[in-house]
Formats: sequence, C-alpha cells, structure tokens
Amino acid sequence: MPHKRLWIPGPTEVSEKNLMAQAQPMIGHRESSFTKLYTGITDKLKEFFELEESHVIVHTSSGTLWMDITGRNLVRNKALAATCGSFSERMYETLLACGKEVDQYAAEWGTATKPDAIMEHLDESHDALTIVHNETSTGIRNPTTEIGKRLKAEYPETMYIIDSVSALGGDMLLPEKDQADLVFTATQKAFALPPGLSIGIISPAGYERAKTVDNRGSYTDLVGLIDYYKKKGQTPSTPAISLLYALDTQLDDMLEEGHANISKRHEEMAKFTRTWVQKHGMKMFPEEGYESITVSTIANNLEKSIADLNKELATRNLHISNGYGPFKEKNFRIGHMGLWTMSDLKELLWHIEEIWNL
Ligand SMILES: Cc1ncc(COP(=O)(O)O)c(C=O)c1O
Repeated sequence: MPHKRLWIPGPTEVSEKNLMAQAQPMIGHRESSFTKLYTGITDKLKEFFELEESHVIVHTSSGTLWMDITGRNLVRNKALAATCGSFSERMYETLLACGKEVDQYAAEWGTATKPDAIMEHLDESHDALTIVHNETSTGIRNPTTEIGKRLKAEYPETMYIIDSVSALGGDMLLPEKDQADLVFTATQKAFALPPGLSIGIISPAGYERAKTVDNRGSYTDLVGLIDYYKKKGQTPSTPAISLLYALDTQLDDMLEEGHANISKRHEEMAKFTRTWVQKHGMKMFPEEGYESITVSTIANNLEKSIADLNKELATRNLHISNGYGPFKEKNFRIGHMGLWTMSDLKELLWHIEEIWNL
C-alpha cells in the first residue's frame, strides 16, 4: 500500500530521519545513557518553550492521560471546565470520572471560549480552570494568554490548565507567559512524531498543589514523576525509548527552525487556506477571528461528498479529515501542522480544486 500523506489533525507526517531515529538498539532505562537522553530532551523542551522554573515531564501515553493527571493532581475539590467541542468536553467528563466536582461552562461548538465569559462563571469555589487551546473538533483557537491574565489577576490560587494537544509546538504558546499551571500535548500532532509520548509542562505552584491532593494514583502521580526526575533524571516506569530517540532528533530540528518561525509557518498556511476557502465560495466553520492555525475546519456549504473527495485523494496518496462526529459531511478539516509547508499545502489545495472542478 502506498503511503497516503496525512493532512489530518493527527497523527501527522513523520520525517524519514525521525522514523529512522527510532530504529536503534535499546538501552536500559536505569543506565546513564538513558539519563543523558531523557534529561537532554527535557533541557531542549525548556529551551524551546523558554522555561525558567517549570517542570517538564515526558510520559509514555497519549494526550488523554493528562486529563486524568489534571483530575487526580490539580483539582482539589471543584473545577470549572470551559468547553467548546468534543475534546474540552472529554476533560469535563474525565474530571467527573476522577470523582471531582465540576461546573461546566459550555460555549456553543464553533465559537470560542472568551475571557469575559470565563470570569462570569468562575468563583471562589473553583480551585482549577480547564480550557482547550485548540479545539480539534471545531477548529477553534482559544485566547489562552488573555484568559491567563484575567484568571491570575483575580484568582491567583486557581490552577490554570491548558489542553494544547493539537497545537503545542506549532502554534506559539509559552506556558510561563500564559501563567499556566499545566500545559500538555502529545507527540503525534504538531511535534510531527508517532503517537505514544505526551508532554506536560507544570508550574512550581502546580507541583505544590499536587502535593496537597490525595489519591493521585501511580502512573498519574505528578509528584512521583517530578520527584523521580529530580532525583534520578529518569522516569519511574519503563518509557518508550524508541520514541524518545525520535523526540530528541525532532527537537533539534524544531530548535533549528525556531519556535517563532514554526508558528509563522503555521499561521501562513492557515491564512492561505482561509483565503482559498473564500475564493471558492466556501465558509470557515469557526467563529471569525478565532480560527485554529494548525487545523482549518471548513463548512461544506458547497454540499460536496467529503467521503468521495477522500476516496479520490487516496488515489493521489493524500488524505484529509471529514467533519468531526456530528459534523461529518457538514464540515471537512485540513490538518496543516507539523512538517507541512506552504508549497505542500498549495499542492493539496490544487488537487481538491481539480477533483471538485472549482
Ligand atoms: C484538543 C485535544 N485534546 C485531547 C486529545 C486526545 O489526545 P490523545 O488522542 O493523544 O489521547 C486530542 C486528540 O485529538 C485533541 O485534539
């Protein structure tokens, strides 16, 4: 089967170099060679995200584990979960499943979570606020910096948790600048790596909060993860070493391109897509001004068959995403994140134009 190039919001394309980086002999995770690899990765992440005081944990899991970590470590009694689509709703449900009290502030799917609305729904009873940076199900990009500013000015003790699974590393977010207590992602999105690793960036206050919360579990114990790293520079349980080899080389590439340049590349691809959408009489699904720069969600107002489009694209070794869940055939999504460049995007859009006779 020829490889279909992935223009979906994860997993994304992985470079040949990073695929090959995984194919190395194993090392023991209690050896000094592992400590060197793992602490080196942590240092590169600190450099990339301009971190002065945060803790960085690379875990062997997909992104969802960090919703459980949030519920078990950062919510003491009650959280406010701001939702605007499927993944932010997953966070709400996960916090409930962790036995925490949760209020939900639900913005309509396709609209953004605004700072004013958050502040209206927050009160002293909430010890944590969860939001999604980039709502993959609707293509919404939430204003994390503004929300952080407003939250910490009024409720400095309230934990600020950002799910940036489908944006971090592609869309510029600096956790310390946003005053976040936890930002998490997974490697199969803008990090352009295979699934299997997740990254959490935790503030010193987040670490202190976790120490005061009972029933943190074991694989989800943030204090255990951070303390083990501080003591040994290793992970408490066996990590996916092959994936760590690839993360190490990918971080070299990301540092070389630079965070700002990467973000600019994603912004340009998103802008180009929006102009293309307009030019051909289509509409963006997300609220104007809050469109994601890693995944463009386009309303199918031309009433084409997205399934048929993907069948035709498959013959050209290309693959895009249909609308998410209830929006299947009503929307379609182009994940332009990770390795993709403007010239790749132009080629993809040219194929769609040809197939649809635009
Ligand atoms: C915004 C967001 N949060 C969470 C997740 C869940 O991540 P994972 O599938 O890595 O567990 C996803 C996956 O697409 C996502 O897009």
